[in-house]
Amino acid sequence: MRVAVIGANGQLGSDIVRVQRQDFRAMEVIALSRPHLNVAIPEAVQAVLTACAFDVLINCTSFTKVDEAEEHAREAFLINAQAPRQLAAVCKAKGARFVHISTDYVFGGERSRPYRETDLPGPLNVYGASKLMGESLARHEHPAGLLTIRVASLFGVAGSSGKGGNFVETMLRLAREKGEVRVVSDVRMSPTGTADAARAILLLIEKGAAPGVYHVVNSGDASWYEFAREIIRRAGLEARVIPIASRDYATAALRPVYSVLDNRKASAIVGEMPSWQDALDRYLAEKGHRSAAGLIQAPGAARGKNCPA
Ligand SMILES: NC(=O)c1ccc[n+]([C@@H]2O[C@H](COP(=O)([O-])OP(=O)(O)OC[C@H]3O[C@@H](n4cnc5c(N)ncnc54)[C@H](OP(=O)(O)O)[C@@H]3O)[C@@H](O)[C@H]2O)c1
Repeated sequence: MRVAVIGANGQLGSDIVRVQRQDFRAMEVIALSRPHLNVAIPEAVQAVLTACAFDVLINCTSFTKVDEAEEHAREAFLINAQAPRQLAAVCKAKGARFVHISTDYVFGGERSRPYRETDLPGPLNVYGASKLMGESLARHEHPAGLLTIRVASLFGVAGSSGKGGNFVETMLRLAREKGEVRVVSDVRMSPTGTADAARAILLLIEKGAAPGVYHVVNSGDASWYEFAREIIRRAGLEARVIPIASRDYATAALRPVYSVLDNRKASAIVGEMPSWQDALDRYLAEKGHRSAAGLIQAPGAARGKNCPA
C-alpha cells in the first residue's frame, strides 16, 4: 500500500512518517512537505498529485494558528476548507482513500460528557469553522473514500510548525525561566501525543476502517492546569502551577470550555488508546526532559529536592 503524507514536516505529519517507517513496513510512505506541494495553489495540487502514485493520501496540512485565523479568515478557509475539497476530489479521481485531519475545535463546548462523532458541531472561532467546512467539503467530494480524523491538544517531538512549539515545551520553558506558570483551570480537553495518534491513524488505514469520522485522542482528559501540573511534576521540575480562570486569559479567538473527545469508535478498531499521562512520559523521555532511570534536573530549575547531589 502506498501512502502519501502531506504536511509531512509538521508535528503530526512527521510522526506519521516516523511511525510508519518503524512499524508499518508493509506500507510505503511518500512524504511531501510545502516545498513539494503548496496546497494553497490548486494547479500545484493537481499537477503534483496526478503525477504521484498512491492508494491513500493523509492530509496533515493546516492553517493551525487559532488566534491568527480570526484576522486571516481567507487564508484559513483556503487551506483548511478549499484545499481539502480539492484533495478529496483528486483522491476520488485516482481511486484513492483520503484521510483528512480535523480538530476538537469543531465543537462549541456546551457539553459536559466527551463528544462523540455523532454529536452536532458548533465551532466558536474562524479556525474551527474553517476546519468544519473542510470536513464537509471533503465528504461532499468523496464520501465513500474519506476518513475524517479529529485529534486534539497535540504534543509531538517535532513541535507544531505552525505554532512554533507545543504546550509541553512552553510549560517546561516557563517553569525553568520563571519558576511558576499560570494556567487556565476551567477548560477541559484531551491531551494527545502525536506518536499515539499517528499509530492509531495508520492502524485505521491498515485495518480498512469504514468511511466516516473518528476521534483519535489519548485516553483520559484534563484541564490545561492539570496537564501543566503533570508536565512539570513528571519532568522533575520545581515550579508553582497557579490555576487561573479563562476569562482572565484573553485571546483573540473564543475557545470551547469543554472539547474532550470520546475515542471509543476508533478504539474498537485499533485497541484501547494509551492514557495521555503515559504518552507524556514517553514524550518527556524521548525529548530528554526525563530519563528512563530517573528524573533529570533541568538547568536553572530550583535546586534542592530534585537534585541528586
Ligand atoms: N496542534 C494541535 O494541538 C491540534 C489540535 C487539534 C487538531 N489539530 C490538527 O492536526 C493537524 C496537524 O497539526 P500539527 O500540530 O501537526 O500542525 P503543524 O505542525 O503546524 O503542521 C501543519 C503542517 O501544514 C503545513 N502547511 C501549512 N500550510 C501549507 C500549505 N499552504 N501548503 C503545504 N503545507 C502547508 C505546514 O508546513 P510548514 O511547516 O511548511 O508551514 C505543516 O507541515 C492539523 O490538521 C490541525 O488542524 C492540531
